[in-house]
Amino acid sequence: MTSFDPSRQAARPAVYLETYGCQMNAADSQLVMGILRRAGYQRVEQPEQADVILLNTCAIREHAEERVLGRLSDLARLRSRRPELKLGLLGCMAQHKRQALLKKAPHLDLVAGPDTYCRLPQMLRQASFDPIVDVQLNRDETYAGVVPEYEHAVRAYVTVMRGCDEFCAFCVVPYVRGRERGVLPGAVVDEVRALARREVREVVLLGQTVNAYRHDAVDFGELLRMVCAVDGIERVRFTSPHPRFMSASIIEVMAAEPKVQPYLHLPVQSGSDRVLQAMARGYRVDEYRALVDRLRTALPELALSTDIIVGFHGEDEGDFEETLALMREVSFDSAFIFKYSRREHTKAYKLGDTVSEAEKAGRLCAAIALQEAISLARNQRLIGRQFSVLTEGAARRGNRMLSGKTPQFKTAVFPATHGVGPGDTVLVRVESATSHSLGAALAQTRAGPPHAPPREVSRADVSGV
Ligand code: 5AD
Ligand code: SF4
Repeated sequence: MTSFDPSRQAARPAVYLETYGCQMNAADSQLVMGILRRAGYQRVEQPEQADVILLNTCAIREHAEERVLGRLSDLARLRSRRPELKLGLLGCMAQHKRQALLKKAPHLDLVAGPDTYCRLPQMLRQASFDPIVDVQLNRDETYAGVVPEYEHAVRAYVTVMRGCDEFCAFCVVPYVRGRERGVLPGAVVDEVRALARREVREVVLLGQTVNAYRHDAVDFGELLRMVCAVDGIERVRFTSPHPRFMSASIIEVMAAEPKVQPYLHLPVQSGSDRVLQAMARGYRVDEYRALVDRLRTALPELALSTDIIVGFHGEDEGDFEETLALMREVSFDSAFIFKYSRREHTKAYKLGDTVSEAEKAGRLCAAIALQEAISLARNQRLIGRQFSVLTEGAARRGNRMLSGKTPQFKTAVFPATHGVGPGDTVLVRVESATSHSLGAALAQTRAGPPHAPPREVSRADVSGV
């Protein structure tokens, strides 16, 4: 006999959501949770507790897709024990592989692309009967009016632009995220205001080519100004700008607005003109160099990071040497370096691979080793200098240590101190450096803004992870 259990009847269906890939995906997962919570779902932290398991996926490189397929087959085991459990794939890989996914992963109930999330509650209901695939791209979808479920953090990411119109020859993003569209400036400002009320101190404006943002008369420089005017927000950043759209007026706003932090992730991809042209990046190496000079003149404290692809179609040893030379010359603070991965649908896909896997691996190692040495030298030069650090919480390693970011987005680790906690800005003096972080001592504490009284550091803050 089945007994009536009112608590079970009233229970909200539980959703477990795992996110892969870039910050845009992390921000999209917050949108998805906002949509599902409004529809009556609750979030759980373990897949075993869930009625619905969703993976928000990345398609940028083949490796990212392989990881997700591996994870899916693990999760499918849960489903064989609980057939009512629903398993869904969201995001870029869902868009990229579409129907083919149902063949590769027959245990999937749902495949939903990045422009379909408003229909998720309805799709989940339908998926009870048949697997459902919705990969409709929509050039108007900006998720206006959806309130994302934010994490409790001192920093929040705000999507200001979706999609990409650049069609770099190697990149699948324009095919899986669709055409470029800007979020209404008023909606961006409202979201930033709401974040300030939640005691978020730093916002990062997000878009695939964020500095190409335009909505009617408002361009990216103007949007930056509007966001900087929001009281309570202390630091403003943005990612990722495209070198082609890094205009004089944006640089002017960066220099004029004290809230805009002196750090830029400016993907260069290659140091060879031949390769840049084959990649359809729309700039030459000397134009990138000149841009870096303009930026460093206007913003002397600027830190720079970049993305580099090694082993693109046609890249020979000479081209690769030019990339290493550019890395030495620009002296990036850090770099994300990737082996070229051929992606279906892209312009370069049909050209094939001309660099062997072993050569790609060799170039990757050489470029990483060079960047590690450059990053270490740059960080060591900071020893003895003072920086303001926005405290985030307990440092990952180290007992009773806190960590936060300098204006240049470098991680600084310093001893936990009575009265200093997440959200507080402190002045630190750098005492040691590795290629990835700075060891620091407190130079002086500055109380947070009036609505955030300094508070004691709790055990949880300093226990480490
Ligand atoms: N192979 C390797 N790296 C890629 N990226 C984008 N597409 C590919 C690809 N097919 C890298 C670029 C981009 C970063 C987000 O990912 O460097 O800037
Ligand atoms: Fe991809 Fe190029 Fe668009 Fe960046 S600018 S998302 S690399 S197509």
